[in-house]
Amino acid sequence: MKISMEPLRKVSYFVILVCIVSSSFIIPVAATEGTESSKHSQLSSVFMEEWTKYRQALQNQMLHPNIRSFKAEQTGDKLQPVTAPITNNLLLLVNKVNELQKKYVPSDLVIPNVRFPFSENLEKKQLREPAAQALEELFNAAEQDGITLYAVSGYRSYQRQEVLFAYNVDTKGFVEANRVSAQPGQSEHQSGLAMDVSGASINFALEEEFAHTLEGEWVAQHAHEYGFIIRYPKDKEEITGYQYEPWHLRYVGVEIATIIHEKGVTLEEYLATHVLAQEIVQLLHAVTNPL
Ligand code: DAL
Ligand code: ZN
Repeated sequence: MKISMEPLRKVSYFVILVCIVSSSFIIPVAATEGTESSKHSQLSSVFMEEWTKYRQALQNQMLHPNIRSFKAEQTGDKLQPVTAPITNNLLLLVNKVNELQKKYVPSDLVIPNVRFPFSENLEKKQLREPAAQALEELFNAAEQDGITLYAVSGYRSYQRQEVLFAYNVDTKGFVEANRVSAQPGQSEHQSGLAMDVSGASINFALEEEFAHTLEGEWVAQHAHEYGFIIRYPKDKEEITGYQYEPWHLRYVGVEIATIIHEKGVTLEEYLATHVLAQEIVQLLHAVTNPL
């Protein structure tokens, strides 16, 4: 049987990752399908052991093809000149190690037809089109359950994030500022896929207290049904890089939001397990079924 060199070269990169994922990540997660609390605590401790390696994998552009494409576009890598999937990529990972470039502005920003606590046409009313449509569905469903949600802050330009972050550093110092607020280029708000929501009962504040309001409880229970996740969950700061933000909704689509909600994981954990595992399976398939 003739085996081409290309799959072998690729799989050599992934042998280590196969070991990482199968020996100490996927298996422990699967093995803790017992109570929710045991699952969460074991997942977190295991994840910390793998986090450094996962960051390395990200930096080597060995994760999701769309993330690789995005990074390739940013670095001007002509070997991977992919632009179209980026504008459609709802699984974009934006965090402290995956930055958006300064000039990135989503091409499909629209203002969703939902309630805002202000009337001016500010840029922060906007979301990318698929997220805006889903937000309208989310707000309508809430309304039918007697819950009135307000959209407080959506799309933010790189320049706007610069101003906000600088203000937070001035008032809190860099370390505290970066626990609640992203550096420019590192905010999901620049992706147009995130919306901060709140309610009149807490005067539209973006505070942890939102989690204990009727609106916050409804959002926590139902956001995934419309494709949104609570992007910065409680007790996940070591993974997401940010404190609990029960108000920050990120659109990823219903299917993935439901998986993330049901497993109680973050987007980083989801990508590290599911996407990486899928890539490994595909590469092994390529090796065992050469052209
Ligand atoms: N508050 C989130 C982390 C942001 O600034 O994007
Ligand atoms: Zn936010």
